[in-house]
Amino acid sequence: MSRVALVTGGTRGIGAAISRALKQAGHRVVANYHGNEEAAQAFQRETGIPVYRFDVADFDSCREAIGRIEQEVGPIDILVNNAGITRDTTFHRMTLEQWQAVIRTNLDSLFNVTRQVIEGMRARGWGRIVNISSINGQKGQFGQTNYSAAKAGVLGFTKALALENAKKGITVNAIAPGYIATDMVMAVREDVRQQIIAQIPVGRLGTPEEVARCVVFLVSEEAGFITGATLTVNGGQYMI
Ligand code: CAA
Repeated sequence: MSRVALVTGGTRGIGAAISRALKQAGHRVVANYHGNEEAAQAFQRETGIPVYRFDVADFDSCREAIGRIEQEVGPIDILVNNAGITRDTTFHRMTLEQWQAVIRTNLDSLFNVTRQVIEGMRARGWGRIVNISSINGQKGQFGQTNYSAAKAGVLGFTKALALENAKKGITVNAIAPGYIATDMVMAVREDVRQQIIAQIPVGRLGTPEEVARCVVFLVSEEAGFITGATLTVNGGQYMI
């Protein structure tokens, strides 16, 4: 069955692979972006997936844009909260701005976006929400107190929301990717990245497509008994 799916941060990196995979699975996909206009336009031209620019860290922008998406495309049945940023530095050097930027974009966004669609999903008695967490929310990471806090928060949010909506046909799950070959990981200093890869038993970075196919599975009709779960996709780097 074809559903309307919104992927935040859906024009680059893991999000772009998720948008493509959901389209491939037959869904009507809408991709959100914020910063990189050029990449978003190229993505839209190449895939035919409509893109909408808004800041997931801003509640009013989310309300306005998601209202417009629901009018122009249809009610959102599938939401993938993927948008995220890093501002890596050790805590003793971290500025308030670096802390807040990551918490607002990676954690407050779950409220700002999900709040716009949850009532509709409950009213229709069906919904799929997938939140992209991280290995570093599970285990902590040197240089990422802000990011690890936000991504651990994503897991708590996922479980609580899953409980509240289980009787309404809505599943809420998290995926915790490890180190995936995206711009975000490539921005890590080369020597540090090589040290990290050396800790991955599979011996390589993951691909965005390897995360995307997990999303396709979790949003399927057949995955209706899976809720509140965290699916770990990290090449064996951290087993939980
Ligand atoms: N554990 C213990 N000690 C560590 C360490 C670690 N993981 N990493 C670094 N250190 C130590 C270093 O050995 C060094 O010690 P000495 O001073 O005794 O030599 C000290 O800490 C300072 O390290 P750096 O030289 O790296 O410090 P820096 O200030 O130049 O850089 C940093 C700090 C920017 C945080 C850098 O360490 C870094 O980029 N770390 C990686 C952070 C990371 O993994 N980010 C993930 C981004 S991708 C992502 O987030 C996606 C996802 O979900 C996985």
